Amino acid sequence: MIDAETMLDRIAAADSLSELEIVRVSALGKSGAITALLKSLGTMDAETRAVEAPKIHALRERVTDALAGKKAALESAELERKLATEKVDLSLPAPESVSGTVHPVSQVMDELAEIFADLGFSVAEGPEIESQWYNFTALNMGESHPARAMMDTFYVQPRNADEEPRVLRTHTSPVQIRAGEKHGAPLYVIAPGRVYRSDSDATHTPMFHQVEGLVLDRGITLGHLKWTLETFVKAFFERDDIVMRFRPSYFPFTEPSAELDIGWSMEKGRRVVGGSEGWMEILGSGMVHPRVIKNMGLDPDEWQGFAFGCGIDRLAMLKYGMDDLRAFFDGDIRWLKHYGFRALDVPTLSGGVGA
Ligand code: DAH
Repeated sequence: MIDAETMLDRIAAADSLSELEIVRVSALGKSGAITALLKSLGTMDAETRAVEAPKIHALRERVTDALAGKKAALESAELERKLATEKVDLSLPAPESVSGTVHPVSQVMDELAEIFADLGFSVAEGPEIESQWYNFTALNMGESHPARAMMDTFYVQPRNADEEPRVLRTHTSPVQIRAGEKHGAPLYVIAPGRVYRSDSDATHTPMFHQVEGLVLDRGITLGHLKWTLETFVKAFFERDDIVMRFRPSYFPFTEPSAELDIGWSMEKGRRVVGGSEGWMEILGSGMVHPRVIKNMGLDPDEWQGFAFGCGIDRLAMLKYGMDDLRAFFDGDIRWLKHYGFRALDVPTLSGGVGA
Protein backbone atom coordinates (compact mmCIF):
# COMPACT_ATOMS: atom_id res chain seq x y z
CA MET A 1 0.00 0.00 0.00
CA ILE A 2 1.38 3.42 -0.91
CA ASP A 3 1.95 5.83 1.85
CA ALA A 4 -0.58 8.65 1.71
CA GLU A 5 1.62 10.97 3.74
CA THR A 6 4.57 10.63 1.35
CA MET A 7 2.30 11.44 -1.57
CA LEU A 8 0.87 14.50 0.18
CA ASP A 9 4.38 15.61 1.13
CA ARG A 10 5.48 15.43 -2.49
CA ILE A 11 2.49 17.53 -3.50
CA ALA A 12 3.28 20.10 -0.86
CA ALA A 13 6.93 20.18 -1.92
CA ALA A 14 6.25 20.77 -5.64
CA ASP A 15 7.33 24.28 -6.43
CA SER A 16 6.23 24.58 -10.03
CA LEU A 17 3.20 23.55 -12.08
CA SER A 18 5.31 21.15 -14.13
CA GLU A 19 6.66 19.45 -11.00
CA LEU A 20 3.13 19.17 -9.63
CA GLU A 21 2.04 17.59 -12.90
CA ILE A 22 4.72 14.89 -12.51
CA VAL A 23 3.36 14.07 -9.05
CA ARG A 24 -0.21 14.01 -10.37
CA VAL A 25 0.68 11.58 -13.15
CA SER A 26 2.57 9.31 -10.78
CA ALA A 27 -0.54 9.09 -8.58
CA LEU A 28 -3.55 9.42 -10.86
CA GLY A 29 -2.15 8.93 -14.36
CA LYS A 30 -2.78 5.82 -16.44
CA SER A 31 -0.10 3.84 -14.64
CA GLY A 32 -0.20 5.87 -11.45
CA ALA A 33 -0.12 4.32 -8.00
CA ILE A 34 -3.71 5.21 -7.06
CA THR A 35 -4.99 4.14 -10.46
CA ALA A 36 -3.34 0.76 -9.87
CA LEU A 37 -5.06 0.50 -6.50
CA LEU A 38 -8.41 1.28 -8.07
CA LYS A 39 -7.81 -1.39 -10.68
CA SER A 40 -6.92 -3.93 -8.01
CA LEU A 41 -10.44 -3.61 -6.56
CA GLY A 42 -11.71 -5.74 -9.44
CA THR A 43 -9.53 -8.69 -8.38
CA MET A 44 -10.52 -8.70 -4.70
CA ASP A 45 -13.13 -10.90 -3.17
CA ALA A 46 -16.26 -9.13 -1.96
CA GLU A 47 -15.26 -9.03 1.69
CA THR A 48 -11.82 -7.56 1.15
CA ARG A 49 -13.28 -5.09 -1.34
CA ALA A 50 -15.84 -3.91 1.20
CA VAL A 51 -12.97 -2.99 3.53
CA GLU A 52 -10.46 -1.69 0.95
CA ALA A 53 -12.71 0.29 -1.42
CA PRO A 54 -13.61 3.09 1.01
CA LYS A 55 -9.94 3.46 1.97
CA ILE A 56 -8.78 3.67 -1.62
CA HIS A 57 -11.49 6.15 -2.59
CA ALA A 58 -10.72 8.27 0.44
CA LEU A 59 -7.05 8.28 -0.51
CA ARG A 60 -7.89 9.33 -4.06
CA GLU A 61 -10.04 12.14 -2.76
CA ARG A 62 -7.36 13.46 -0.39
CA VAL A 63 -4.76 13.41 -3.13
CA THR A 64 -7.09 15.03 -5.69
CA ASP A 65 -7.98 17.80 -3.25
CA ALA A 66 -4.35 18.37 -2.33
CA LEU A 67 -3.41 18.57 -6.03
CA ALA A 68 -6.18 21.10 -6.76
CA GLY A 69 -5.26 23.24 -3.75
CA LYS A 70 -1.58 23.24 -4.65
CA LYS A 71 -2.35 24.04 -8.28
CA ALA A 72 -4.42 27.06 -7.32
CA ALA A 73 -1.69 28.25 -4.95
CA LEU A 74 1.03 27.88 -7.61
CA GLU A 75 -1.10 29.69 -10.21
CA SER A 76 -1.81 32.62 -7.99
CA ALA A 77 1.85 32.82 -6.99
CA GLU A 78 2.71 32.85 -10.70
CA LEU A 79 0.22 35.67 -11.32
CA GLU A 80 1.65 37.67 -8.42
CA ARG A 81 5.13 37.18 -9.81
CA LYS A 82 4.02 38.37 -13.27
CA LEU A 83 2.21 41.38 -11.86
CA ALA A 84 5.30 42.31 -9.92
CA THR A 85 7.79 41.85 -12.74
CA GLU A 86 5.94 42.54 -16.01
CA LYS A 87 5.27 46.21 -15.56
CA VAL A 88 4.43 48.20 -18.69
CA ASP A 89 5.68 51.74 -18.90
CA LEU A 90 2.98 53.45 -20.92
CA SER A 91 5.06 56.55 -21.35
CA LEU A 92 7.59 54.69 -23.52
CA PRO A 93 7.16 54.87 -27.32
CA ALA A 94 5.53 51.71 -28.74
CA PRO A 95 8.06 49.34 -30.29
CA GLU A 96 7.47 48.48 -33.97
CA SER A 97 6.24 45.01 -33.01
CA VAL A 98 3.20 46.27 -31.11
CA SER A 99 2.29 49.33 -33.16
CA GLY A 100 -1.06 49.13 -34.94
CA THR A 101 -1.73 49.28 -38.64
CA VAL A 102 -4.40 51.02 -40.68
CA HIS A 103 -7.05 48.53 -41.80
CA PRO A 104 -7.29 48.18 -45.59
CA VAL A 105 -10.93 49.36 -45.44
CA SER A 106 -9.88 52.57 -43.71
CA GLN A 107 -7.05 52.95 -46.16
CA VAL A 108 -9.39 52.60 -49.14
CA MET A 109 -11.83 55.08 -47.59
CA ASP A 110 -8.98 57.57 -47.27
CA GLU A 111 -8.00 56.91 -50.87
CA LEU A 112 -11.58 57.49 -52.04
CA ALA A 113 -11.85 60.73 -50.09
CA GLU A 114 -8.56 61.88 -51.61
CA ILE A 115 -9.54 61.02 -55.18
CA PHE A 116 -12.97 62.61 -54.93
CA ALA A 117 -11.72 65.66 -53.03
CA ASP A 118 -9.57 66.33 -56.05
CA LEU A 119 -12.75 66.28 -58.17
CA GLY A 120 -14.47 68.77 -55.87
CA PHE A 121 -16.50 66.33 -53.74
CA SER A 122 -16.82 66.57 -49.98
CA VAL A 123 -17.58 63.75 -47.54
CA ALA A 124 -21.13 63.38 -46.12
CA GLU A 125 -22.33 61.13 -43.31
CA GLY A 126 -25.56 59.64 -42.02
CA PRO A 127 -26.66 57.36 -39.18
CA GLU A 128 -26.27 53.59 -39.32
CA ILE A 129 -29.64 53.11 -37.58
CA GLU A 130 -31.92 54.67 -40.14
CA SER A 131 -35.61 55.32 -40.60
CA GLN A 132 -37.48 53.40 -43.26
CA TRP A 133 -38.24 56.73 -44.92
CA TYR A 134 -34.57 57.48 -45.62
CA ASN A 135 -33.48 53.90 -46.26
CA PHE A 136 -36.38 53.02 -48.57
CA THR A 137 -39.35 55.31 -49.12
CA ALA A 138 -37.53 58.53 -50.05
CA LEU A 139 -35.41 56.47 -52.45
CA ASN A 140 -38.50 55.57 -54.39
CA MET A 141 -38.97 52.20 -52.71
CA GLY A 142 -42.58 52.41 -51.56
CA GLU A 143 -43.97 50.16 -48.88
CA SER A 144 -44.72 47.30 -51.23
CA HIS A 145 -41.64 47.70 -53.41
CA PRO A 146 -40.02 44.27 -53.96
CA ALA A 147 -36.52 45.74 -53.47
CA ARG A 148 -37.32 46.17 -49.76
CA ALA A 149 -37.67 42.43 -49.34
CA MET A 150 -34.59 41.79 -51.48
CA MET A 151 -32.29 43.73 -49.19
CA ASP A 152 -32.24 41.23 -46.26
CA THR A 153 -32.94 44.04 -43.85
CA PHE A 154 -32.23 44.00 -40.11
CA TYR A 155 -35.10 45.73 -38.30
CA VAL A 156 -34.58 47.46 -34.96
CA GLN A 157 -37.03 46.98 -32.11
CA PRO A 158 -39.15 50.15 -31.85
CA ARG A 159 -38.65 52.21 -28.68
CA ASN A 160 -42.39 52.60 -28.14
CA ALA A 161 -45.68 51.42 -29.58
CA ASP A 162 -46.09 54.46 -31.84
CA GLU A 163 -42.68 54.27 -33.44
CA GLU A 164 -42.21 52.65 -36.81
CA PRO A 165 -39.35 50.12 -36.57
CA ARG A 166 -36.08 51.58 -37.79
CA VAL A 167 -33.56 49.57 -39.79
CA LEU A 168 -29.79 49.09 -39.88
CA ARG A 169 -29.17 50.88 -43.13
CA THR A 170 -28.90 48.38 -45.97
CA HIS A 171 -26.92 50.77 -48.18
CA THR A 172 -25.33 54.23 -48.08
CA SER A 173 -27.99 55.64 -50.44
CA PRO A 174 -30.06 57.22 -47.60
CA VAL A 175 -27.18 59.67 -47.13
CA GLN A 176 -28.12 61.05 -50.58
CA ILE A 177 -31.45 62.22 -49.21
CA ARG A 178 -29.98 63.59 -45.98
CA ALA A 179 -27.22 65.48 -47.79
CA GLY A 180 -29.64 66.88 -50.42
CA GLU A 181 -32.03 67.98 -47.69
CA LYS A 182 -29.33 69.58 -45.57
CA HIS A 183 -27.16 71.29 -48.18
CA GLY A 184 -29.43 71.71 -51.20
CA ALA A 185 -27.97 71.99 -54.68
CA PRO A 186 -25.49 72.23 -56.30
CA LEU A 187 -24.00 69.34 -54.37
CA TYR A 188 -20.98 67.06 -54.88
CA VAL A 189 -20.58 64.47 -52.13
CA ILE A 190 -19.39 60.99 -51.37
CA ALA A 191 -20.63 59.06 -48.33
CA PRO A 192 -18.49 56.12 -47.21
CA GLY A 193 -19.64 53.97 -44.31
CA ARG A 194 -20.92 50.75 -42.80
CA VAL A 195 -24.03 49.01 -44.08
CA TYR A 196 -25.83 45.87 -42.87
CA ARG A 197 -27.62 42.94 -44.45
CA SER A 198 -28.63 39.59 -43.04
CA ASP A 199 -26.31 37.57 -45.22
CA SER A 200 -23.16 35.59 -44.47
CA ASP A 201 -20.82 33.40 -46.54
CA ALA A 202 -17.31 33.64 -48.07
CA THR A 203 -18.25 36.74 -50.08
CA HIS A 204 -20.89 38.29 -47.79
CA THR A 205 -20.65 39.53 -44.22
CA PRO A 206 -23.61 40.94 -42.25
CA MET A 207 -21.74 44.24 -41.98
CA PHE A 208 -19.81 45.62 -44.90
CA HIS A 209 -18.81 48.98 -46.37
CA GLN A 210 -20.10 51.04 -49.23
CA VAL A 211 -19.40 54.42 -50.69
CA GLU A 212 -22.17 56.48 -52.18
CA GLY A 213 -21.60 59.27 -54.66
CA LEU A 214 -24.07 62.04 -55.44
CA VAL A 215 -23.93 65.00 -57.78
CA LEU A 216 -26.75 67.52 -58.10
CA ASP A 217 -26.38 70.46 -60.41
CA ARG A 218 -27.92 72.07 -63.47
CA GLY A 219 -27.65 70.26 -66.76
CA ILE A 220 -26.02 67.08 -65.43
CA THR A 221 -25.97 64.25 -67.98
CA LEU A 222 -24.96 60.61 -68.25
CA GLY A 223 -21.73 61.88 -69.84
CA HIS A 224 -20.72 63.49 -66.53
CA LEU A 225 -21.41 60.21 -64.74
CA LYS A 226 -19.33 58.23 -67.18
CA TRP A 227 -16.37 60.61 -67.03
CA THR A 228 -16.44 60.75 -63.23
CA LEU A 229 -16.51 56.97 -62.82
CA GLU A 230 -13.80 56.46 -65.38
CA THR A 231 -11.57 59.02 -63.70
CA PHE A 232 -12.24 57.46 -60.30
CA VAL A 233 -11.54 53.87 -61.39
CA LYS A 234 -8.27 54.78 -63.11
CA ALA A 235 -7.07 56.85 -60.16
CA PHE A 236 -8.05 54.17 -57.66
CA PHE A 237 -6.39 51.23 -59.42
CA GLU A 238 -3.55 53.46 -60.52
CA ARG A 239 -3.56 52.30 -64.10
CA ASP A 240 -4.77 53.76 -67.37
CA ASP A 241 -5.40 50.51 -69.21
CA ILE A 242 -8.58 49.66 -67.37
CA VAL A 243 -11.37 48.50 -69.67
CA MET A 244 -14.88 49.39 -68.59
CA ARG A 245 -18.38 48.77 -69.77
CA PHE A 246 -21.75 50.06 -68.67
CA ARG A 247 -24.54 47.53 -68.49
CA PRO A 248 -28.17 48.68 -68.36
CA SER A 249 -29.66 47.81 -64.99
CA TYR A 250 -32.44 48.75 -62.62
CA PHE A 251 -32.43 50.64 -59.33
CA PRO A 252 -35.57 52.30 -57.99
CA PHE A 253 -33.70 55.52 -57.20
CA THR A 254 -32.13 56.09 -60.62
CA GLU A 255 -33.50 56.34 -64.11
CA PRO A 256 -31.84 55.27 -66.30
CA SER A 257 -29.63 52.92 -64.26
CA ALA A 258 -26.41 51.20 -65.20
CA GLU A 259 -23.91 48.87 -63.61
CA LEU A 260 -20.23 49.40 -64.22
CA ASP A 261 -18.09 46.36 -65.05
CA ILE A 262 -14.31 46.41 -65.25
CA GLY A 263 -12.22 43.95 -67.23
CA TRP A 264 -9.84 41.51 -65.56
CA SER A 265 -7.15 39.15 -66.76
CA MET A 266 -5.18 36.27 -65.29
CA GLU A 267 -1.68 37.04 -64.05
CA LYS A 268 0.27 34.25 -62.31
CA GLY A 269 -2.92 32.38 -61.54
CA ARG A 270 -4.60 35.42 -60.01
CA ARG A 271 -7.33 37.67 -61.34
CA VAL A 272 -6.03 41.18 -61.75
CA VAL A 273 -7.72 44.37 -62.88
CA GLY A 274 -6.89 45.30 -66.49
CA GLY A 275 -7.31 43.53 -69.81
CA SER A 276 -10.62 41.96 -70.74
CA GLU A 277 -10.48 38.20 -70.30
CA GLY A 278 -13.58 38.57 -68.17
CA TRP A 279 -15.76 41.20 -66.50
CA MET A 280 -16.64 41.95 -62.95
CA GLU A 281 -19.26 44.28 -61.66
CA ILE A 282 -17.95 46.96 -59.33
CA LEU A 283 -20.76 49.43 -58.82
CA GLY A 284 -24.33 50.53 -59.50
CA SER A 285 -25.14 53.97 -60.81
CA GLY A 286 -27.58 56.11 -62.73
CA MET A 287 -29.31 59.46 -63.11
CA VAL A 288 -31.10 60.39 -59.90
CA HIS A 289 -34.83 59.74 -60.23
CA PRO A 290 -36.88 62.99 -60.27
CA ARG A 291 -39.01 61.66 -57.41
CA VAL A 292 -35.86 61.22 -55.28
CA ILE A 293 -34.82 64.81 -56.01
CA LYS A 294 -38.29 65.93 -54.96
CA ASN A 295 -37.95 63.93 -51.73
CA MET A 296 -34.84 65.99 -50.91
CA GLY A 297 -37.05 69.06 -51.12
CA LEU A 298 -35.58 70.18 -54.45
CA ASP A 299 -37.16 70.91 -57.82
CA PRO A 300 -36.29 68.18 -60.35
CA ASP A 301 -36.99 70.57 -63.22
CA GLU A 302 -34.16 72.75 -62.04
CA TRP A 303 -31.72 70.18 -60.62
CA GLN A 304 -30.53 66.95 -62.16
CA GLY A 305 -27.92 64.58 -60.91
CA PHE A 306 -26.19 61.28 -60.97
CA ALA A 307 -25.44 58.84 -58.20
CA PHE A 308 -23.47 55.67 -57.67
CA GLY A 309 -22.93 53.09 -54.95
CA CYS A 310 -19.95 50.82 -54.61
CA GLY A 311 -18.76 48.11 -52.19
CA ILE A 312 -15.56 49.26 -50.48
CA ASP A 313 -14.43 45.88 -49.17
CA ARG A 314 -14.49 44.45 -52.65
CA LEU A 315 -12.49 47.39 -53.96
CA ALA A 316 -9.89 46.71 -51.28
CA MET A 317 -9.79 43.01 -52.13
CA LEU A 318 -9.31 43.75 -55.82
CA LYS A 319 -6.62 46.32 -55.29
CA TYR A 320 -4.65 44.67 -52.49
CA GLY A 321 -5.19 41.01 -53.35
CA MET A 322 -7.10 39.53 -50.41
CA ASP A 323 -9.44 36.70 -51.26
CA ASP A 324 -11.55 36.05 -48.17
CA LEU A 325 -13.89 38.82 -47.12
CA ARG A 326 -14.49 37.31 -43.67
CA ALA A 327 -10.83 37.81 -42.70
CA PHE A 328 -11.47 41.58 -42.91
CA PHE A 329 -13.51 41.45 -39.74
CA ASP A 330 -11.80 38.68 -37.73
CA GLY A 331 -9.45 41.13 -36.03
CA ASP A 332 -6.53 38.71 -36.47
CA ILE A 333 -3.41 40.70 -35.71
CA ARG A 334 -1.30 38.64 -38.15
CA TRP A 335 -3.69 39.47 -41.01
CA LEU A 336 -3.63 43.14 -40.06
CA LYS A 337 0.16 43.13 -39.93
CA HIS A 338 0.29 41.60 -43.37
CA TYR A 339 -2.38 43.65 -45.12
CA GLY A 340 -2.49 46.77 -42.94
CA PHE A 341 -0.90 50.10 -43.76
CA ARG A 342 1.47 52.21 -41.72
CA ALA A 343 -0.30 55.06 -40.01
CA LEU A 344 1.90 57.66 -41.64
CA ASP A 345 1.30 56.41 -45.19
CA VAL A 346 -1.42 58.94 -45.92
CA PRO A 347 -2.69 58.52 -49.47
CA THR A 348 -2.07 61.49 -51.72
CA LEU A 349 -2.72 61.82 -55.41
CA SER A 350 0.79 63.06 -56.06
CA GLY A 351 2.39 60.19 -54.14
CA GLY A 352 0.06 57.58 -55.67
CA VAL A 353 -3.06 56.92 -53.63
CA GLY A 354 -2.03 53.37 -52.84
CA ALA A 355 1.50 54.27 -51.80
N1 DAH B 1 -27.71 51.25 -53.15
C1 DAH B 1 -27.38 50.27 -54.16
C2 DAH B 1 -27.08 48.94 -53.49
O1 DAH B 1 -26.78 48.91 -52.34
C3 DAH B 1 -26.19 50.70 -54.96
C4 DAH B 1 -26.49 51.88 -55.83
C5 DAH B 1 -26.91 51.67 -57.11
C6 DAH B 1 -26.37 53.18 -55.37
C7 DAH B 1 -27.19 52.73 -57.95
C8 DAH B 1 -26.64 54.25 -56.19
C9 DAH B 1 -27.05 54.00 -57.50
O2 DAH B 1 -26.52 55.51 -55.79
O3 DAH B 1 -27.31 55.08 -58.30
O4 DAH B 1 -27.13 47.93 -54.13
